[in-house]
Amino acid sequence: MPVTVLIGAQWGDEGKGKIIDALAPSLQMVVRYQGGPNAGHTVIVNGHKTVLHQVPTGILHAGVACLISPGVLLDPWELMAETTMLQEQGVDLERLRISPSCHLIMPWHRALDRAREKAAGAGAIGTTGRGMGPCAMDKAGRRGLRLGDLLDTRRRSVVGDGLACANEELERLGSEPLQLDEVEEACAAAALALRPFVADTRPLLHGVLDKGGRVLMEGAQGAMLDLDWGTWPYVTSTHPSAGGACTGGGVPMRQVDQVIGILKVYATRVGNGPFPTEFAPGPFADTFRQHAGEFGATTGRPRRCGWFDAVAARYACQLNGFTDLVLTKLDVLDGQDEVRAAVAYELDGHVHSQMPEDLRLLEGPVNPQWRSFPGWRDSAQATHWQELPAEARTYLGWLEEDLGCPVRWVSNGPERRSLLQRA
Ligand code: GDP
Ligand code: IMO
Ligand code: MG
Repeated sequence: MPVTVLIGAQWGDEGKGKIIDALAPSLQMVVRYQGGPNAGHTVIVNGHKTVLHQVPTGILHAGVACLISPGVLLDPWELMAETTMLQEQGVDLERLRISPSCHLIMPWHRALDRAREKAAGAGAIGTTGRGMGPCAMDKAGRRGLRLGDLLDTRRRSVVGDGLACANEELERLGSEPLQLDEVEEACAAAALALRPFVADTRPLLHGVLDKGGRVLMEGAQGAMLDLDWGTWPYVTSTHPSAGGACTGGGVPMRQVDQVIGILKVYATRVGNGPFPTEFAPGPFADTFRQHAGEFGATTGRPRRCGWFDAVAARYACQLNGFTDLVLTKLDVLDGQDEVRAAVAYELDGHVHSQMPEDLRLLEGPVNPQWRSFPGWRDSAQATHWQELPAEARTYLGWLEEDLGCPVRWVSNGPERRSLLQRA
């Protein structure tokens, strides 16, 4: 059973990119199976930073094959920019293949995403503006355009209908309509540039599995942003949960023998929506964000920061059945006198140690019940688990026990080398 599914277990940006990059030397293939250009996965090697949006993170390792499978909503123009960036770094893209079944984020999807968000005012989701929601609506409505259609000039003719329909809405929302000739020209350029990468990903994936090779399914976003299980409607439009790897990636469930959940030792969220453990606005929150470098890898937006939320993490563990946890950004808490975690929510006059049935209740006032831990210093300097400060190990031990899942690695710095395996 050679498949690892790796997902974010909070609200995204847990450090998935860094961990996948660290695991890549033991893998034959990395597959992106959901999400799209809304993702930003960062890898830092000897001070050099690469942010991957649609290309699987394994691409930075020679010999690792990389697939983009049908569950991904693909922006062809963003992808062209990303492949150019990688080629300029000397990365071999011969190892990248993209399914013709990927639905395309068309220029009007991006325009609609932004126009709808603007029109929603205070009720906006706070999306990345990358066109995910509008593209997913067309896909579910069975009228979108797929990568294979882009390569076929006859099937590409539906571009006109899609654009006309979107332009009506854009004008109604007071946004500029898009020009058909410009979109058609962009489509022709994208078809030419992406054709070499297009291939049926199913036999490629199963070819590796049949030979017993190890495949990692790279989740984007996080469990709490899942369309079905997240804090709807403040979620993304695909399925970041582990199950998404089977539907979007074409992996049979029984091939999966490892499900890795990535958690920061605190919590962040970008965009709107409930965040029970969020720091109150003020100097502490601002200094923490700055020190932690919590700014979006895709949009540059400041991330909202808060203490670890064990209620949300227990929910993610239950739904995704993690076999292993990786805790990231331990070094960020170095120097705090006290470290906190929410162990329950008090809401509606009741104490909840598990997520309430209706997550929309979290949009109202929530009073987190805290557990406090003594802080630590200098975890960033540790090169082995045993060198971690005793207080940090106590905190990690509590997390492991509370979540009922072993912590296999802890990340104590942004660099590839800052990763400690559990002793
Ligand atoms: P992803 O979307 O889950 O891949 O995460 P992002 O790349 O969006 O955000 C994680 C950020 O934290 C990036 O800037 C990483 O370089 C950084 N990072 C990852 N692990 C650590 C760590 O252990 N310590 C510190 N200080 N930074 C980390
Ligand atoms: P990675 O893979 C963090 C959030 C947006 C918004 C909501 C919906 O880097 O962890 P969308 O553009 O998807 O319609 O936005 O989801 N979001 C992310 N937050 N990390 C991400 O990806 C995200 N991708 C989307 O901020 O709240
Ligand atoms: Mg990210």
